[in-house]
Amino acid sequence: MYTGFKHLHSTLAYILLAALVFSILYTLFSYLNKKPFTEGNRKVALIGLISAHLQLVVGLVLYFISPLGLSNASGAAMKDSASRLYFLEHPLMMIIGIALITVGYSRAKRLKEDKKRYMSILIFYTLGLVLILSRIPWQVWP
Ligand code: HEM
Ligand code: HEM
Repeated sequence: MYTGFKHLHSTLAYILLAALVFSILYTLFSYLNKKPFTEGNRKVALIGLISAHLQLVVGLVLYFISPLGLSNASGAAMKDSASRLYFLEHPLMMIIGIALITVGYSRAKRLKEDKKRYMSILIFYTLGLVLILSRIPWQVWP
């Protein structure tokens, strides 16, 4: 089960990064071309949101079954940068990043003015993506 979830988490990471980049570029393109914010724009942003939520759930499961997750949390692990990344920094930063993406999507859905809706996705998704990229274990992935 651990190996399965690890592979799933690793594969979903590609999908999520691609989905976020696509959502951001599509939104930017529509905005720069001064197009009205349509249902299609919302759905493209939804692809990014769903990918992020799926990865969140898989990551949470992994956190409890991986030897690098919660079971590795200790004072000694805190002093080791690789251990700290897996049991603390990676999960925490990813959750904050996914929360930002969720806020960006929800605001875009709620707001009325097209420019504000575009900006909500552009700003929150980009911030979320930067936080996510900052705490990917690049030594072992891709
Ligand atoms: C730990 C698990 C999860 C948490 C804490 C979570 C949390 C949230 C929150 C806070 C929202 C925003 C609601 C709003 O203001 O509109 C949301 C929306 C959404 N979530 Fe999740 N979610 C989780 C898992 C999932 C999963 C597994 C999926 C599906 C694959 C999913 C799909 C969606 C969709 C489609 C929406 C947007 C609905 C809309 O159009 O407003 N979520 N979620
Ligand atoms: C934005 C969402 C996330 C991305 C893009 C992401 C990406 C990754 C990647 C690329 C790896 C390395 C996989 C490998 O070694 O092949 C990894 C490992 C890991 N992730 Fe995430 N992750 C995300 C969210 C989370 C969350 C929310 C949690 C927990 C709450 C989590 C827990 C873990 C754990 C425990 C590992 C180590 C697995 C192991 O090697 O045993 N991740 N993640």
